[in-house]
Amino acid sequence: MSSVVVVGSFNVDHVWRCESLPAPGATIAGRYSTGPGGKGFNQAVASARAGARTHFVCALGDDAGGAMARGLAAQEGIALIAEASSEPTGTGGIYVDAHGRNTIVIGPGANAVLSEGFIAGQQALVAGARVLLAQLESPVETIESALALARDAGVTTVLNAAPANAPSSIGLLKLADVLTPNETEFAALLSRHVGERVNADDVAALDGGSLHALCRKLSAGTVVVTLGSVGCFVSHADEHLRGDAQPYYRVAAEAAQTIDTTGAGDAFNGALAASLAQLPAEPFAQHVRFATRFAGRSTEAEGAAVSMPRLTPAA
Ligand code: RIB
Repeated sequence: MSSVVVVGSFNVDHVWRCESLPAPGATIAGRYSTGPGGKGFNQAVASARAGARTHFVCALGDDAGGAMARGLAAQEGIALIAEASSEPTGTGGIYVDAHGRNTIVIGPGANAVLSEGFIAGQQALVAGARVLLAQLESPVETIESALALARDAGVTTVLNAAPANAPSSIGLLKLADVLTPNETEFAALLSRHVGERVNADDVAALDGGSLHALCRKLSAGTVVVTLGSVGCFVSHADEHLRGDAQPYYRVAAEAAQTIDTTGAGDAFNGALAASLAQLPAEPFAQHVRFATRFAGRSTEAEGAAVSMPRLTPAA
């Protein structure tokens, strides 16, 4: 089994399923459930269920949420390496509507204090991995350190620049061999770092050449813009096509009986990392098609981490 190190957040998600998302000032009733989440943990579960040996580096409080993370990681066969924090374990409040769309508020808690020093202590672990995968629900300087450690060791780096409002820098983006924003995160990064104003709702409809040109402004590496039910767009640097025949292309989403899109982006990222780690000689498009199928399947079940399918890539 080839390995993926995921660095990022764990949250205890509190979820209310409602007919429609509540408007400001409204009080509505919804069906409540709770379960594991956090973009980092969701991605680690996706990676493990996609067949990769997976380590998850995070920060946890000394509380029931922390115990939940440790127990579930063990159940999933994920090696969890947690920095102990006096802050409470992270939380997420999630509303899901009848179409499966969601609105999320997170309480970062311990995730906000995952330290650069703790990451520096994971140098040997990171150097032994095939892929390092990170998101931005942890401090940006910590994520930058993790990506830099991996880059120095020649480990493939994947950065899911989520959520859209998280701080980021051009230096951070440069450390990602593969950058995987959704359309909202892509528009935010373009505006913040290259002064390009693009409406997130218009991204999917842009012609391939224009989308490729925007991706090239953002990163010298590969960019995968995930586009929800439409699929995704892939853009490579001309000199590094990662086994593909073309510098840019679209991959269509597969049909799914969607009931809950929470964690679909995490499913995509975890599956992409797992596929890259297990089948490094295969063309990049094959990894993207697998991740797209995996993400679609994750929307057919309720919840975040628990909705990840068990599906492994085929050579
Ligand atoms: O991507 C979905 C995740 O975002 C949820 O599990 C929630 O905890 C937030 O981190």
